[in-house]
Amino acid sequence: MSKRLYIETVGCQMNVLDSEMVVADLKRHGYELVGSPREADTVLFNTCSVREHAEEKIYSALGKLRQAKERNPEKTIGVMGCMAQKDQQLIFQRAPFVDLIVGPGQLQQIPTLLNNIRDGQGRQLAVSLGRKSGSQERIRRSHETFDPLRDPSMRPTPFQAYLRIQIGCDKFCTYCVVPMTRGPEQGRSPEQILSEAKVLADQGCVEITLLGQTVNSYRYTDEAGQVTRMSDLLRQLHEIEGLRRLKFVTNYPKDMTEELLQTIRDLPKCSTYLHVPAQSGSDEQLKRMRRGYTVADYLEMMERIERILPDAAVSSDFIVGFCGETEEDFQQTIELVRRCRFKNSFIFKYSVRAGTKASERMEDDVPEEVKTRRNNELLAVQDEISAEDNQRFIGQTVEILVEGPSKRAQKKKDDGPLCQMMGRTLCDRIVVYDGNRRQAGQFLPIEISDATATTLIGRVKTVHTGPQLFQLQGTGE
Ligand code: 5AD
Ligand code: SF4
Repeated sequence: MSKRLYIETVGCQMNVLDSEMVVADLKRHGYELVGSPREADTVLFNTCSVREHAEEKIYSALGKLRQAKERNPEKTIGVMGCMAQKDQQLIFQRAPFVDLIVGPGQLQQIPTLLNNIRDGQGRQLAVSLGRKSGSQERIRRSHETFDPLRDPSMRPTPFQAYLRIQIGCDKFCTYCVVPMTRGPEQGRSPEQILSEAKVLADQGCVEITLLGQTVNSYRYTDEAGQVTRMSDLLRQLHEIEGLRRLKFVTNYPKDMTEELLQTIRDLPKCSTYLHVPAQSGSDEQLKRMRRGYTVADYLEMMERIERILPDAAVSSDFIVGFCGETEEDFQQTIELVRRCRFKNSFIFKYSVRAGTKASERMEDDVPEEVKTRRNNELLAVQDEISAEDNQRFIGQTVEILVEGPSKRAQKKKDDGPLCQMMGRTLCDRIVVYDGNRRQAGQFLPIEISDATATTLIGRVKTVHTGPQLFQLQGTGE
C-alpha cells in the first residue's frame, strides 16, 4: 500500500519543528512527502489554537477535504497540535470525516495510530491530560516531546534549525491557552540539548534557534541538584564547532536578567535580537492579563538591555482590545511603543479562548471595530518607528547569513541562478540584494543603500586587495 503524506503547518516555530519531527518519523516508516492533499493518502494538519482565526482557517481547510474523503474513504485525515489538544472529540463532531486527533505530547504515536486506522480499528485519538487531571508527574509525562529525530530535508534550509530547549508554560497569562495545550513548563536536559545541537552542527547547521514559550526562564535541575540556567546553556552551546549563530525565542520580560544579558554580550555567536513581548502599556491591563510585571519593570528591563547590549534589537507582541481596555489604556500602549522604539511589534486583536481565566471571569467588552481600529493605529505607529530606525543603516555594511531567494524572487518562478536573495543580520534584520542562488548558506557583507520599515536593501561589498578579489568579512551591526 502506498504511503503518500501531505502535511500542512500553521502557527509558531514550535509547530514547524513538530512537523519536522513527525515527517522524519513517518519517512522512517516508509512514507514519502507529496506536494498537495490531492496526491496524498494521508493528510495531516498541524494546528494552532492561540487565536480563533487560526482555528477557523483549519476548520475551513478540513471542510474542503470532505468531498475527497467521500470519494476516497481510504484517505486518512489527521489533526495534530494545539487545536487537537484543546478541542479533542469536538473535532470529530465538527468534522466527522477526520480519522485522527493527536495532541502535541503524543506526536511519537502517529505511525502506530495511522497503522491502527489502516488495520480497520477506526478513529484514533491521543491527547495529554488536562492541567488538573492527575498528579503533577503524570501530567508532565503526558506532555513529553520526542526531539532526537532530525531530518535535514524537512528544515526550511539545511543550514538553519530550531532546537527545543523547553516545553510548555506555567505563566498562565489570563488570555492564553498555551499552558493548557502545551502543558507544564519543563526544561529539557542540557545533555539532550547539547547532543542534538552537535548532530545539527555535524549536519551542516550554522545557525540554531533555541525554542521555548519563555526561553529565557529555562532551568534544569539534575538528580544531584545542579541547576543549569539559560546563560549556562548558551555558554555550553557556544563551544560547538561549526555553529556560527545562536538565536532564541520567545523571552519573558521578568527573566531578562543582568547575568543573561552579560552572557549574550560576551558570546559573539549569540544573536542580539531579543523578542520580549510587553502585551500592553497599561498597568491596569497588565494586571488583568496577569503578566507579573508593571510598565516600570518593563522600562527598567529596556534600560538594562540598552546599557549592556546597546546594539540589541528588541521586538514585542501586543494584544489590543483585551477585556476592559479603555482608550486611555490603549494610549499608554502607544506611548510604550514610542518610548521603546521596538525593531518591530506583532499586534493581535484579543480573541477569547475557552479554558482560560479571562474567558471564565472577564467580559470580552471591546467591540470588534474598536479592536480593528486600535490594531491599525498601533501598527502605523510601529511602522513609522521601524522605517525611521532602518534609515540609519544606509551607507553601513552589515553581515548577513543568506537564507535563499527573496519573497519577490520566489513569486517570479524564474529558476535561473541570478535573482534577488534574502538574508538576516545577527539582529534579525531582513536584507535583500541581487545575487546568486548558490550564495544560500554563506555569510556575506552587504552595503546598505536603501531601507523600508521591514527590509534593508543593498549589494554585496567586495574590495580589491592586490591582484585577487577578496570579499570583506562582515562588520556585524
Ligand atoms: N488573543 C490574542 N492574542 C493572543 N496571544 C496569545 N493569546 C492571545 C489571545 N487569546 C498573542 C500574545 C502572544 C502571541 C504569541 O500571541 O501576544 O505573545
Ligand atoms: Fe501564553 Fe503567557 Fe505562557 Fe506566553 S508566557 S505562552 S502568553 S501563558
